[in-house]
Amino acid sequence: MSTPAEEHVTTSNSLNNAGLAPASAVSGAASTSANGAPDADRAVASRIRTFDNAQLRKDFDVQSAFLYLEDFLAPEVTAQLIAAARALLPEVNRNYLPGHKQGGSVSRHTIDRLAPFIAQLYRSKELIGWLEHLTGDKLQLSPADDPHAYALYYYTKPGDHIGWHYDTSYYDGRRYTLLLGVIDESSCRLDYELHTRNPDKADVPGSVQIPPGGLVFFDGDKLRHRITPALDNEMRVSLTFEYVTDPNMRPWRRVISNLKDAIAYFGFRQVFSQFARRNAKGEGV
Ligand SMILES: [Fe+2]
Repeated sequence: MSTPAEEHVTTSNSLNNAGLAPASAVSGAASTSANGAPDADRAVASRIRTFDNAQLRKDFDVQSAFLYLEDFLAPEVTAQLIAAARALLPEVNRNYLPGHKQGGSVSRHTIDRLAPFIAQLYRSKELIGWLEHLTGDKLQLSPADDPHAYALYYYTKPGDHIGWHYDTSYYDGRRYTLLLGVIDESSCRLDYELHTRNPDKADVPGSVQIPPGGLVFFDGDKLRHRITPALDNEMRVSLTFEYVTDPNMRPWRRVISNLKDAIAYFGFRQVFSQFARRNAKGEGV
């Protein structure tokens, strides 16, 4: 019989100072830059040095490449993300796929223009080093033309949701998803099933409501998951980062991936303007 995965989930509330040492020594609270935004690297380091990272790596492995931490981000980083998510509301691209998905999104291309702190957080060496420790993989940034590399997802209208799916990798290597809670004034839940691709383990269902600053990290091809529908007057915003082990992509997979992104997420203008730019530079597709 399956056991709810929440019972196995480790939260940072119970963590101690053992485990992984941060790549650089950091003392005191995270500092801020001249423009008032937190220093992403220092802010991440200030948190991960308080975790039992050896235990978290075991948890990630035991849960077939899945981890949930309800309190991950430094408070000043969460505050910065909340402000950015609200400021970017006019930029949201709404999509509706009958029977599967309804909601809004803001791609990395818009984030680059209007919320560069998010791009800084995505590239944080402290963050990537910590994720590499969890996975045992060497991780790379997603290519510049991938709108999912970092993106905000908005659930702001009744019925906004996404049905059961995997974050399938169209790359030659693995694709990891890091999901950060930003705004949660909703009843939406992340429902998931562990071990569905592991024939030696029974599926284990779980469900979490991710608070601002919470983290979910998983191998996209291994975690079956969905977001349950929003109700009236609810708002949920999450931020996802995508990291890969091999950024190469076969041409036919790129065609499928671009069409999926244009229809289901960001719109043809966002996806194919990048596509056209790349072709204009003489690069392959
Ligand atoms: Fe997903």
